[in-house]
Amino acid sequence: MNNFISFRLKIIVLVVHLCIAFGVFLLLSYTFLTQRDISHQNIGKYDGILKYLPSMKFILPNRNDSKIREYNVWLIFTKVRIDSPLKHKFHNLIVNLLNVSSVPLKFNVIVDDVSWKIAFMEFGKISNNTMQSVSYIFYNFTEVASKIHDIATVLTPHFSSRPGTYYSDALFYVSLGLHRIAPPDQDLAVLLDCDLYFKDDIAILFKEFARFKSTALFGLAPELTPVYHHVLHIYRSKHTSTFGDYYHLKNISKTVHPRGFQGYNSGVVLLNLRKIRQSKTYSKILSKSSVDSLTEKYNFRGHLGDQDFYTLMGYEYPDLIQTLNCGFNRQLCTWWKDHGYKDVFNNYFKCKHKIIVLHGNCNTPIPK
Ligand SMILES: *[C@@H]1O[C@H](CO)[C@@H](O)[C@H](O)[C@H]1NC(C)=O
Ligand SMILES: *[C@@H]1O[C@H](CO)[C@@H](O)[C@H](O)[C@H]1NC(C)=O
Ligand SMILES: *[C@@H]1O[C@H](CO)[C@@H](O)[C@H](O)[C@H]1NC(C)=O
Ligand SMILES: *[C@@H]1O[C@H](CO)[C@@H](O)[C@H](O)[C@H]1NC(C)=O
Ligand SMILES: *[C@@H]1O[C@H](CO)[C@@H](O)[C@H](O)[C@H]1NC(C)=O
Repeated sequence: MNNFISFRLKIIVLVVHLCIAFGVFLLLSYTFLTQRDISHQNIGKYDGILKYLPSMKFILPNRNDSKIREYNVWLIFTKVRIDSPLKHKFHNLIVNLLNVSSVPLKFNVIVDDVSWKIAFMEFGKISNNTMQSVSYIFYNFTEVASKIHDIATVLTPHFSSRPGTYYSDALFYVSLGLHRIAPPDQDLAVLLDCDLYFKDDIAILFKEFARFKSTALFGLAPELTPVYHHVLHIYRSKHTSTFGDYYHLKNISKTVHPRGFQGYNSGVVLLNLRKIRQSKTYSKILSKSSVDSLTEKYNFRGHLGDQDFYTLMGYEYPDLIQTLNCGFNRQLCTWWKDHGYKDVFNNYFKCKHKIIVLHGNCNTPIPK
């Protein structure tokens, strides 16, 4: 057979084979490299989303070695339409965070089938305008909701205004199950509302983790309205308690929270995911029997989702929560001032610490 093939033909065949081999080699190395990147980013699972993405340009950060620590910021971006105010809040917050941050941030965004496209576009615009690559990853809301379904089922009857309303949505309990949603190698995370404005470096917020007492799982700043005074009125009418009192330095009685306890606001939540995953106490406290008896004890009927639970947990198990100062979540909503609490409102609302984060909650405009 070889007799039929001239020397020249042999050379051509050899070249063709070399080309094919080289092509296969390129393909294999490409597959290997991209796979490594994807698994490192933990986005392999989100194929459903990724296959629509025209380019990975904005996803892969300019990292030069895997030791660069990523600062994980979590945002919830669902039920968003193209003309929704949340879109602008989201855009402004990302731009703001990138501008003030001295550390590399990674945005972990929980999205649904509609909103991921909007989030993707916003990241693209931001990346274009700021001429920097933005590191982010999307998490599919449907999967997230199924991972925290049990938690939402236990908490919804106590902390949602009406079943089927805004706050009854599983998404309002995401922070309580974030340790199941986040990749297992993610140890620390900060979950933010979109209606925030950072006046200073977000690295200052991350530094608060270093100040956590050894038992703390979460870090939250106080609620700055009398909402928990209101929610606890039945309990307070029967018991002498500082639960629902505003913070005051002079009034030191011998209770668990001698200086008053306003509850917590969940617009900014620091999570020590590693400790939460390991904590046996935490999973016990989240069980139905525990939540039922805790809410019964305090006659507690809330409507603010996860922060109602943090408030109860913080009062009953103070070791598990690190109280951040009010400057890390300076809320601006004054709704309660005009709803029966005019006289005491400012005692709750005041904040004498340096303001790092402004929180335009209940749609309050943020002064710039
Ligand atoms: C999210 O997950 C659900 C259920 O697995 C799937 O039907 C949907 O297509 C996913 N959405 C996206 C954008 O990938
Ligand atoms: C990688 O980062 C280090 C500092 O963290 C720097 O000294 C080094 O030059 C960088 N290498 C490249 C190739 O950019
Ligand atoms: C970026 O932050 C600085 C202060 O750190 C501020 O003066 C400036 O206006 C910010 N720029 C944008 C685009 O937000
Ligand atoms: C980024 O800018 C280029 C040209 O400057 C433009 O073609 C592209 O559409 C922009 N992308 C986004 C997502 O805005
Ligand atoms: C001190 O605490 C008690 C019990 O919580 C409360 O009734 C009282 O109003 C507080 N006093 C002041 C000055 O806040």
